[in-house]
Amino acid sequence: MGLDQATPGQQPQERLADWLADDMSAVNAVIRQRMASEHAPRIPQVTAHLIEAGGKRLRPMLTLAAARLCGYGGPYHVHLAATVEFIHTATLLHDDVVDESQQRRGRPTANLLWDNKSSVLVGDYLFARSFQLMTETGNMRVLSILSNASAVIAEGEVLQLTAAQDLRTDEGIYLKVVRGKTAALFSAATEVGGVIAGADEAQVRALYDYGDALGIAFQIVDDLLDYGGSDAVIGKNTGDDFRERKLTLPVIKAVAQATPEERAFWVRVIEKGQQTEGDLEQARAIMARHGAMEAARQDALAWAAKARDALAALPAHDLRDMLADLADYVVERIS
Ligand code: IPE
Ligand code: IPE
Ligand code: MG
Ligand code: MG
Repeated sequence: MGLDQATPGQQPQERLADWLADDMSAVNAVIRQRMASEHAPRIPQVTAHLIEAGGKRLRPMLTLAAARLCGYGGPYHVHLAATVEFIHTATLLHDDVVDESQQRRGRPTANLLWDNKSSVLVGDYLFARSFQLMTETGNMRVLSILSNASAVIAEGEVLQLTAAQDLRTDEGIYLKVVRGKTAALFSAATEVGGVIAGADEAQVRALYDYGDALGIAFQIVDDLLDYGGSDAVIGKNTGDDFRERKLTLPVIKAVAQATPEERAFWVRVIEKGQQTEGDLEQARAIMARHGAMEAARQDALAWAAKARDALAALPAHDLRDMLADLADYVVERIS
């Protein structure tokens, strides 16, 4: 473990994956072992479909990196990283039902291939498996952090339900939604890495702050990609947020500056849900007119900078540098 030199041109995520290669194989082995069920064949079918499609494995890498960077030498960072990926995978199964999405990780979603019932129940199974895994660490504080994060994610998703289709949704509400549905798992992922390593409170706090800010930047970018990305690159269908009438950051910024005609457009497509051919392109054009995408990208950059700054309280380490670069990279992936 621990390549001394990074391959030139490698992205921070790949450098992290190289550095953490041995730990990550252990995590993948635990995931494979625990995603199965002897009693219900539908479970391994659905979990294998999603888990073997890969995914960036960003959150488990955050846990491993946080633990290693704080000097951890025990076995439980692997359980925690696998726990975090299970929680993530469970939320994806549920999220694709809620969002009626058809593509995930470059494959048809489980709800499309099987049905909503399978996705909901297998998602529940993975949540339960994640709880079993985390208890094996015997550490009450990590149990508290991860179970709290699971509740906060669900709150974020539910808050988003009521904020969708409502043009009064402002940036404050948006921040609450993304902090809950996305950043809560990023911050828990980094925080538990520090806690299991026995890091001091200032370092644990720094890891939490890093994960929180990184998660917010990451979700703003995910929301930008829903309008500006390509299906092939993101492995998901673009335009889902518009179809689901979600008030994501670029839309909120455009609505705030709307002319009377533009306002009428937003009322029709978002509030009334009367969408027709060409409306998605029209939404993009209105957002471009007000520089809404660029303004949202600037917000993501500010969160990335905040994430980077939080790392100052942590020990100097190759992994710390990679985490700092990762913060910039999550925003660069849109440009
Ligand atoms: C998808 O997360 C859900 C969001 C928070 C946007 P990722 O983009 O990390 O998904 P995978 O695991 O790489 O597929
Ligand atoms: C991501 O929600 C957060 C969770 C999965 C809990 P989104 O709906 O924004 O993410 P994608 O775009 O489907 O991955
Ligand atoms: Mg979704
Ligand atoms: Mg969603």
